[in-house]
Amino acid sequence: MTEHEREMVSPDADLDDRAVEGALRPKRLEDFVGQERVREQLSLVLRGAQRRGRAPDHILMSGGPGLGKTTLAMIIAAELGAPLRITSGPAIERSGDLAAVLSTLQEGEVLFLDEIHRMARPAEEMLYVAMEDFRVDVVVGKGPGATAIPIDIAPFTLVGATTRAGLLPAPLRDRFGFTAQMDFYRADELEHILRRSAGLLGVDLEDDAAVEIAGRSRGTPRIANRLLRRVRDYAEVHGDGHLTLGTARAALTLYEVDDQGLDRLDRAVLDALMRRFRGGPVGLSTLAVSVGEEPETVEVVAEPFLVRSGLIARTPRGRVATPEAWAHMGLTPPPDAAFGAGISDAAPVEPPDPS
Ligand SMILES: Nc1ncnc2c1ncn2[C@@H]1O[C@H](COP(=O)(O)OP(=O)(O)O)[C@@H](O)[C@H]1O
Ligand SMILES: [Mg+2]
Repeated sequence: MTEHEREMVSPDADLDDRAVEGALRPKRLEDFVGQERVREQLSLVLRGAQRRGRAPDHILMSGGPGLGKTTLAMIIAAELGAPLRITSGPAIERSGDLAAVLSTLQEGEVLFLDEIHRMARPAEEMLYVAMEDFRVDVVVGKGPGATAIPIDIAPFTLVGATTRAGLLPAPLRDRFGFTAQMDFYRADELEHILRRSAGLLGVDLEDDAAVEIAGRSRGTPRIANRLLRRVRDYAEVHGDGHLTLGTARAALTLYEVDDQGLDRLDRAVLDALMRRFRGGPVGLSTLAVSVGEEPETVEVVAEPFLVRSGLIARTPRGRVATPEAWAHMGLTPPPDAAFGAGISDAAPVEPPDPS
């Protein structure tokens, strides 16, 4: 399988996504579709701060890739009418990298720190102080003669984003006044996003085509927008550019994204699990070998969605196909298939680190 095929339903942004995402991002909170609770809470935080004439509390956004964290960070700055500075955890390798950013912030600026869980440890300490006291301690010299010179910095609002809130040290998590927990989107929300994107792209999208694409988008706006563009490509080549249910189905069949959003790798994993291992339990690496993939690819790319869809269960003895998986693949489980006893008494296993 090529990278390209697998990337069709990956929640991570590829180059093509990055090129169009700017145009598709809602600019204001009222245009941000879904996540009602987060939107309402955030609106209160922002309005309260504006009424008091102060920078709002620091905000943490937690949730999987493609769910709208970067979009929300930009919206926060826009709603506050504040400048936005963007950096990310991996870009902060030393505390000096962070000091350079913090000491040049303007009053009220929004600092977006993406993938905040990947920031270097020594920088974390500096961030605690900056968040709490708007101060940076710059260490001058080395060894016993080293001194910390405190520098005041402008009051700012940190907006942190993470796909792994569990990896954040508690002292860092505690310094955020508000945490927005981003969830997967409902089908009707994805349909709304698709209709909005179609309007921006100048694409004629029929309602039932929007329903079809939404159903295959894994609850993720980024995937919905990507599938929309691929269906549009197909409609331009094979039809008059009009996105009907028929074109959507034909295009998504061609791209091998099935009616639940499963791609070829997902189905290969399910197929091997059922046909070769009678539905499991089977170890992840054995399963990966049987589909000709690296264990990590199966664990990070395919498995999380299969587990979330209720098609695969993780048990201490290995991966097991659920009754829903047998039904989805149109196969009949053998009478001694492992689901049932094998699953119900099993302790849940921690999901892997997708980063
Ligand atoms: N609530 C939403 N409403 C409309 N579009 C959205 C929403 N959330 C995400 N998107 C779209 O999905 C794409 C990915 O969102 P992004 O904010 O980059 O996700 P994240 O930073 O969480 O990975 C963006 O181009 C944006 O257009
Ligand atoms: Mg992002």
